[in-house]
Amino acid sequence: MNIRVTRTFPQNYDGDLLVCFVRQTEGGGQPLCEHAMVEKHLKAAFSRGDFVGKDEQILLCYPIENADLCLPKRILGVGLGKEAIEAETFRKAGGIIVNTAKKTKTREIMIILPECDLPVSVLSQCLTEGLMLGNYSFDKYKTKKNDDDSPQTSVEAITFSCAKDREARQGVKTGAINSEAVIRARDMANEPGSSMTASDFVALSLDLHKKYGLKREVFGKTDLQKMKMGGLLAVNRGSAQPPALVVLEYRTGCKVPTLLLVGKGLTFDSGGISLKPGTGMQDMKYDMCGGAAVMAVMQAIGSAQPKNIDVIAIVPATDNMPGGPALKPGDIVRLYNGKTVEVVNTDAEGRLILADALAYGVKHYQPDAVIDLATLTGAVIVGLGHHTAGLMGNDDALAAKLEQAGALSGEPVWRLPLGKQYRKQIDSSVADLKNVGDKGAGTITAGAFLQEFVGEAKWAHLDIAGTAWDFTEKSYIPKGPSGYGVRLILETIRNW
Ligand code: BES
Ligand code: ZN
Ligand code: ZN
Repeated sequence: MNIRVTRTFPQNYDGDLLVCFVRQTEGGGQPLCEHAMVEKHLKAAFSRGDFVGKDEQILLCYPIENADLCLPKRILGVGLGKEAIEAETFRKAGGIIVNTAKKTKTREIMIILPECDLPVSVLSQCLTEGLMLGNYSFDKYKTKKNDDDSPQTSVEAITFSCAKDREARQGVKTGAINSEAVIRARDMANEPGSSMTASDFVALSLDLHKKYGLKREVFGKTDLQKMKMGGLLAVNRGSAQPPALVVLEYRTGCKVPTLLLVGKGLTFDSGGISLKPGTGMQDMKYDMCGGAAVMAVMQAIGSAQPKNIDVIAIVPATDNMPGGPALKPGDIVRLYNGKTVEVVNTDAEGRLILADALAYGVKHYQPDAVIDLATLTGAVIVGLGHHTAGLMGNDDALAAKLEQAGALSGEPVWRLPLGKQYRKQIDSSVADLKNVGDKGAGTITAGAFLQEFVGEAKWAHLDIAGTAWDFTEKSYIPKGPSGYGVRLILETIRNW
């Protein structure tokens, strides 16, 4: 999808679809563009009370052809409601526009950017995200791409008309980099567990190394044995696929803070010997969404080349399978930092592979901050549903950064407590820790487990089990994987 910006006002536009935003007012609607033809059509709808510019309301109309006038084939009014306009308003609007366009024969769109309280760069960034992400579909495995009866077309070109064209162009660029990264994360997650394995994470890291010059290190099974990565190796024991620990580094070459990102790359979670129930197990191909988000962030960083921060990404990758040599409930494993863990439930595997990766990353890179993303517990869905990710951590300033970025990016987080009471729940009688807490607070005891592996580093943990897929349904967020976390982390990095 190609988005360009023009300063020219589309007075004589005669293309496929002309879009104007509309505010809801007391008496009806208020078009946010001064285009006589558009106003004429919208006003007809206002006067009849059919369309008043409510949030997410749309009006699609078809100007009667007139040989003397240049007319667009379609006019679309998009309601922005009467509440304060936020960044999210334009993401949702972008999704609505592209979905409407796809239901018609529209191939090309002209959008008149409105004047409002948001900076033009933010407005155009968010609109770009809504358009590109709303346009997403995963049909790689569909033999027949389209239903013959539906007019479903693909939108090829979009133009924003805006007097502040330089600012708008900047926003489009950021929005496109963000969206391409989110699309990458969604594509990875949509792949079946058998075609998205640890070696596919390795292959992707090679692509990112070649394309953006990111420094890359990959540790295979024998390396992991030498390094004593007991958690990742234990989880991998029942699998036919070898594990991998993938490391990517983005360096500015300047004296800037170092951020370490760690993502759970569990490519399929059967539960292992503590096998999950069959119903819904297919969704466990999404258990690598944390790893996908981290890789996607590195793609965006490689493309945007920020000057304010060095970023290290680590993804421990394996599936969790119940093969003959599989880890057994009751087994005791020693993790990278020397701590021993009694494995009470082999389905609580994410914390075992993350613990190794966190301890390794903290020791080798001495980062100024650490953020991990993981589809870690079903309990976070009980607590926060599919709308908000669980945030835990040992540093208020880092947590605040994520809360702020969450609000701006439309990927909200909610902080949960950590503390001695919760840590006590994972005391084991035979090892330093057990991998499952005593009853209650399942999300927090998982966080308390991870805390044992970050030492003194400033650290935040995001439990994205509820948001990585089936995230709050919106025009630009499909069912299935959402790519949650990518925009949140990129926003955090930009504001660092
Ligand atoms: N990958 C799952 C967490 C999960 C569950 C994500 C449901 C998305 C939807 C994780 O590995 C897991 O199985 N966690 C267990 C932990 C339990 C055994 C303490 C869980 O949440 O049930
Ligand atoms: Zn599990
Ligand atoms: Zn899992």
